[in-house]
Amino acid sequence: MSSLLKITDLHVSVADTPILKGVNMEIRQGEVHALMGPNGCGKSTLAYALAGHPKYTVTQGSIEISSPDGETVNITELEADERARLGMFLAFQYPVVIPGVKVADFIRHAISNIRNPDRKEGEGLVGMREFRKEIKAKMEELGMDVEFARRYLNDGFSGGEKKRMEILQMAMLQPKFAILDETDSGLDSDAVRVVSEGLAKLAGPEMGVLIITHHERLLEYNPPKFTHVMLGGRIVETGDAALAEDLHNNGYAGVRERHPDADADNAKAEAAAV
Ligand SMILES: Nc1ncnc2c1ncn2[C@@H]1O[C@H](COP(=O)(O)OP(=O)(O)OP(=O)(O)O)[C@@H](O)[C@H]1O
Ligand SMILES: [Mg+2]
Repeated sequence: MSSLLKITDLHVSVADTPILKGVNMEIRQGEVHALMGPNGCGKSTLAYALAGHPKYTVTQGSIEISSPDGETVNITELEADERARLGMFLAFQYPVVIPGVKVADFIRHAISNIRNPDRKEGEGLVGMREFRKEIKAKMEELGMDVEFARRYLNDGFSGGEKKRMEILQMAMLQPKFAILDETDSGLDSDAVRVVSEGLAKLAGPEMGVLIITHHERLLEYNPPKFTHVMLGGRIVETGDAALAEDLHNNGYAGVRERHPDADADNAKAEAAAV
């Protein structure tokens, strides 16, 4: 049995502008889902709304997590850190440089917050010896240089190193649901390979994954069971891996033609963003 992330009729506004207009999606632990769609359709907005970013206001609908024993928690109003404790992970959520904080220390705090949710600052940290053993094992599994953990967080990190950091975080946190928003089309092929291979190693029966990407490679390594197409703030089509491939090869013209109302909304959003 597995946990379920259920998104029902989700409407989200940013600064009073409605962006998502009724999104429905169900992601089970162990499933890989791809979310595709033209620029400005609302993909990143969905990722931030799921993670609980305060700028993204849910005006209607719900986000719920159901555990295998049938217990359902409505997370729509929960803070980001509470969602993280329940197993949600938005990759690329810490792109900031934190001066003087080493990769290993950051991850030790992050896993301590999740494993000992009632801990106070300075208490309840995962033991150093246990932590070192764990991070070393994960880094070996992912083919990472152990020296990496001694570096300062994101300080001077290359694109590929930032991706390594995020994959390592995911390996250590072992989320139930991971959302990867590959917004950065400027990722070089090394960075795309890092995240593609890393995710393929980590994703398994315990993880539900939502991949938002324009990179074919990521989906080649992690073939989606479901591909969702977003247009004008709603999911207009859902298919399998073949749909993702078709969109990569042929673009969104066909989708736009089949869904003129959503297309009109998308065009408005694109015009507003310019
Ligand atoms: N913080 C914000 N402030 C104002 N408008 C926003 C904000 N975030 C998103 N929007 C608007 O919401 C719409 C959807 O944006 P979003 O970033 O979710 O699109 P996307 O599908 O991720 O696009 P891309 O493929 O370019 O990453 C756009 O019109 C965008 O301008
Ligand atoms: Mg985006």
